Amino acid sequence: MPAITLTTLQSLKQKGEKITMLTCYDATFAHACNEAGVEVLLVGDSLGMVLQGHDSTLPVTTAEMAYHTACVKRGNSDALILADLPFMANATLEQTMTNSAMLMQAGAHMVKVEGQLWLAESIRLLAERGVPVCAHMGLTPQAVNILGGYKVQGRNENQARQMRADAISLEQAGAAMLLLECVPSELAAEISQAVKIPVIGIGAGNATDGQVLVLHDMLGLSITGRVPKFVKNFMLGQDSIQSALKAYVNEVKATTFPGIEHGFSA
Ligand code: KIV
Repeated sequence: MPAITLTTLQSLKQKGEKITMLTCYDATFAHACNEAGVEVLLVGDSLGMVLQGHDSTLPVTTAEMAYHTACVKRGNSDALILADLPFMANATLEQTMTNSAMLMQAGAHMVKVEGQLWLAESIRLLAERGVPVCAHMGLTPQAVNILGGYKVQGRNENQARQMRADAISLEQAGAAMLLLECVPSELAAEISQAVKIPVIGIGAGNATDGQVLVLHDMLGLSITGRVPKFVKNFMLGQDSIQSALKAYVNEVKATTFPGIEHGFSA
């Protein structure tokens, strides 16, 4: 077991101490993130964009996710490893079980699935079988073709009400964590209050229980030059990657990141 477990994260939420998460795809960065005190390493399917150069996360396979999860595991000692089920890896309950098993056997301590209420049944089955689940809500990049782009979600009252209700239902189904991406700050704050499980935000304001960023984004690395509003370049003013990672941890813990300028309104 790593030093950081779900119980640690739960008690950080109860104490009101912010949880730090970064994406991580290899052993060297896993070690560097451990040294900086990052509590959760997300082996995100964003690797399809930042490592593989695709224009979305859709081409990523479960085998690739398992490969990078195993790389992260080898460099990690302290952090909890969360791995993404990629596009269509949870299309059926049977696929969800088989693909989650692959990620857990590769070294994940928890899996992340994108969606809304329809995830409830698979979350319940996974939790019953010993797999903790994080439900990724709001902007779910695997559904970019349905959403019509990478847009803020939950801006109108109907969508907001639905997201609040779904968050509560997914907690009741057994989700151990929620991740809210590109959600108005006020709505993210309400959801974080409404559930007992930790809520991690990206582009969701600073009232969630923790924050996550894509590693390459926060190190100021970009192929396209287009940087989302919620990203801060932590390399600015730092002389090493290690200090940038530490600055991220310090700013999340001190609630100075994200600032108002990194969030969205309804
Ligand atoms: O894949 C990923 O990196 C993610 C983050 C954007 C939260 O899911």
